[in-house]
Parts: sequence; C-alpha cells; structure tokens
Amino acid sequence: MLKEGVKKSILVVDDEIGTRESLKMILKADYQVFLAKNAEETFQQLETHPFDLILLDIILPDTDGLRVLEKIKQRDPEQMVIMITATKTVKTAVEAMKLGAYDYITKPFDVDELRLIISRALSTQALKEENQRLWMEIDRSFGFDNIIGKSKVMKDIFKIVRQVANTRSTVLIMGESGTGKELIARAIHYHSPRKNHPFVTINCAAIPDTLIESELFGHEKGAFTNAIERKLGRFEIAHQGTLFLDEIGELSLMTQAKILRFLEEKEFNRVGGSKTIKVDVRLIAATNKDLPQQVKKGEFREDLFYRINVVPILLPPLRERKEDIPLLIDHFIKKFNSENQKNVKGVTPEALEAMINYDWPGNVRELENLIERVVALTQNEYIHQEELPIPFTSISRTNGLKESVLSGRLSFTKAEEEFEREIILDALRRTKFVQSHAAELLGISRRILKYKMDKLGITEEQ
Ligand SMILES: Nc1ncnc2c1ncn2[C@@H]1O[C@H](COP(=O)(O)OP(=O)(O)OP(=O)(O)O)[C@@H](O)[C@H]1O
Ligand SMILES: [Mg+2]
Repeated sequence: MLKEGVKKSILVVDDEIGTRESLKMILKADYQVFLAKNAEETFQQLETHPFDLILLDIILPDTDGLRVLEKIKQRDPEQMVIMITATKTVKTAVEAMKLGAYDYITKPFDVDELRLIISRALSTQALKEENQRLWMEIDRSFGFDNIIGKSKVMKDIFKIVRQVANTRSTVLIMGESGTGKELIARAIHYHSPRKNHPFVTINCAAIPDTLIESELFGHEKGAFTNAIERKLGRFEIAHQGTLFLDEIGELSLMTQAKILRFLEEKEFNRVGGSKTIKVDVRLIAATNKDLPQQVKKGEFREDLFYRINVVPILLPPLRERKEDIPLLIDHFIKKFNSENQKNVKGVTPEALEAMINYDWPGNVRELENLIERVVALTQNEYIHQEELPIPFTSISRTNGLKESVLSGRLSFTKAEEEFEREIILDALRRTKFVQSHAAELLGISRRILKYKMDKLGITEEQ
C-alpha cells in the first residue's frame, strides 16, 4: 500500500521514446515518474535525486545496460532496479539479476504484471528499510554507544567484544555484581551475525535446581508430575541465536554435566524424552564467583570450565576504573533527565570528588540507582554533595582521613586541618556563607571562625 500523499519516485531509462512515454502514462497516476534516454542522463538524474525504483532497459545506445546496472549498484547497493528487456534478451536479464537487479519485465508490457512487479519491489524495499531502522534502534540501545567507558580496560573489552561477536566461540564473562556482565553479553549478541535471532537469558541462581534442567532443555508431556504439556527449553528457544547463562557458578554438578554434553555434541534430550534434539546455539556464560576457585573445591567441573572459558572477559569493578565515573554520571543524568522530564546539568565538583572517592561495592548498578534517586528528587541544576546519602557526605571523608593517618600517608596535623576545613566549609555552605550563622551552627564565636578561616585560607568564593 502506498502512503497517502507520498508518491514514490520511479526513473524510467529507455532509449525508445515510445516505451518511455507509455510507461509514464501507465505509472503516473500512482508514482512520480522521471525519464532518461541513456546512461549519461541516468547518472545526471541520480546526482540530483534519489529514486525509489529504476526501470532500466538492458539495451541502451551509449552503454550496455548491465554496465549501467553495475555502476548504479556500486553507488548504492540498496538501489532497487528492475530491468526492461525484449523477449529475446531474457538470458541477459537473468544475468542482470545476478548483478543485483530485483526482477525483469519483458516488452511488450502486460500492464497488470508490470504494476504487480513494481508494487512488490517497492514493498520489499520498504520492509528492508523498516527492518534496518528497527535494528539500528536496537543497536543504539544495546550497542557500544550505551556501554560507557573510556578507561583502557573497558576499551580493550570493547575490542574483544567486537572481535568475538563474529565468531561462535563460547564466552565467559566474569565480574562482580553490577559491573555490566549482561550488558556485554547483549552487545556480543547484537553485534553478531545471530542478531536477527533470539537472545535468550536464564538466571541459574533464580531457578531451583529441581526445575533448571527442564527450563534449559524442556520436557515432554508426562515427564514428571506437573508436566501436563510438552515444553520447549531455553536451548530450543534460542535456536540460531544466543543463550546467556547467567550465574553459571550456581549450577549443580549434574546440570553442569548436561551442559557439557550439549557443548561437546550440540545436542540434548528434553526431560523425559528419547528423541535427540540438535540446535545451533551460541553460549555466553557469566558469573560473579571465582570459578577457578570453585573448580579447586570440586564445586565446578574442570572440563566444563575449560569448555566455556574459551574467550574470558574480566569486567573490573568500578573502583578500579575510576576515570569512567564522571562519564557514567553524565550518562545516567541524561538518561534519568529524560525519564523524569528534568534538566539536571551535572554534579558539583565536591559531589564528584565524593563519588570518585567512594568504593562502589555495587559497581555501576549502584551508581545508576543513586543517580536515578537524586535526579528524581533534586530541585537544583547541579547535584550537591549534601543531596547524596551518608557514604558521600563529609563524615565518610573523615573516615578516609583517619585511615590515611593510621596508614602513615598523612600527618596528624594535616588531617586535623583537613577536618577543620571540611566542617567549616560545610557549615558555611549550609548557612549560605553568613558567618555569624555558621559560627552559631558550629558553637564557636564569630571571631574564632574568622581566625580559622584565615588560617585555612577559606574565602567566600570557595
Ligand atoms: N559500562 C556501562 N555503561 C552503562 N551502563 C552500565 C555499564 N555497566 C553496567 N551498566 C548498567 O548497570 C546495571 C547493571 O549491569 P548488568 O545487569 O549488566 O550487571 P551484571 O554484571 O550482570 O550484574 P549482576 O551480577 O548483579 O547480575 C544495568 O542497568 C546496566 O545497564
Ligand atoms: Mg547480571
């Protein structure tokens, strides 16, 4: 179906004026029709105007139509072209299709057939474009653009992701909770040739051991008491795509053995089934456990470990790539601005410092959750340190100071000074730099406050 008001454009290339004019007559009610009588005119037209479709005569006076087709396809491999041939050149038309023409029509035209071929070509084209647009959208939400990181480790990881995406190797992603393991797994899938097929995930920690086998491999009707119907497992659902086995360290030894068999033989049986099922699935596994350690303790099969550890990706905790923190803050502020119709511009330097000094045991997820909360609540353009929860306020900094002194990195006198500075600055900020109020808050005289400010070099601008 044509969209109302938007006529698609067709360029008719034929040296016979009779053919050009009759095609124009037939098509002009439904399409915008443009005409060219030779190769030269064709390329002139193409310079000034994109066409949804080109009807191209195989025999042209100045150049062979096939050469013209080749050149058109070189300019734009997606250009839709239908060849026009006299009956005797049908063989050449077949050749043209090998060169990328969509179809051919023979002279003299059967008007209905002509209309049908053209409308089919154009809807194929529209579908292709729609598909491309959809995939670009998905790419944008899972692609590298959304995995933030400029630290060397992260850049190296992006490189591995790109390389490994094109293979079918099993990937093992290791990292603490919240470091982005699932994000990386999705990126691998959506950059791989399997991207048009399913990305199926299963969290081994979330499913009781008694059910996991049937979740993974499916079951036949009657396989066990509650098996009232045949059920497909995740392996089958993921056929031609990718299966993401999250928290693989939680699997029992028995289930591990079944996964090993799949990896070795690419086949399995549904629970209670005798038929062997073959599927084409790429496996990506993730864990926040120390798998080699588990192997040593006999909790994880060594042979399975080697099978899945083909391409290991080790995602470092956030505290080991602090240079990524400012970028991530920015990224999440933008994300939650648009979700909350807010216009937060950033964080103050003090807030940023506090966030950089923090340890982030929950890694990127913790940072994301924090930004979500403060963006939703704040009324400020820039998020202040005081708006952050306890671990980011000065109290925790004094803990840091204490540690620095005790470990010999900072002198006692310097630490005392730092503490004074922190607390005085805090009091001044809270009282909008009205010194008498700040002194009152601190329970000292205004004179003493002034003396300390001078000694510490605190001015109002700070
Ligand atoms: N580099 C990054 N850039 C942007 N967002 C990230 C990044 N790393 C993680 N995130 C975000 O942090 C959250 C946690 O990431 P993800 O679920 O991939 O972590 P995980 O390692 O699988 O955690 P868990 O072990 O708890 O399952 C997600 O919302 C994800 O989008
Ligand atoms: Mg996860």
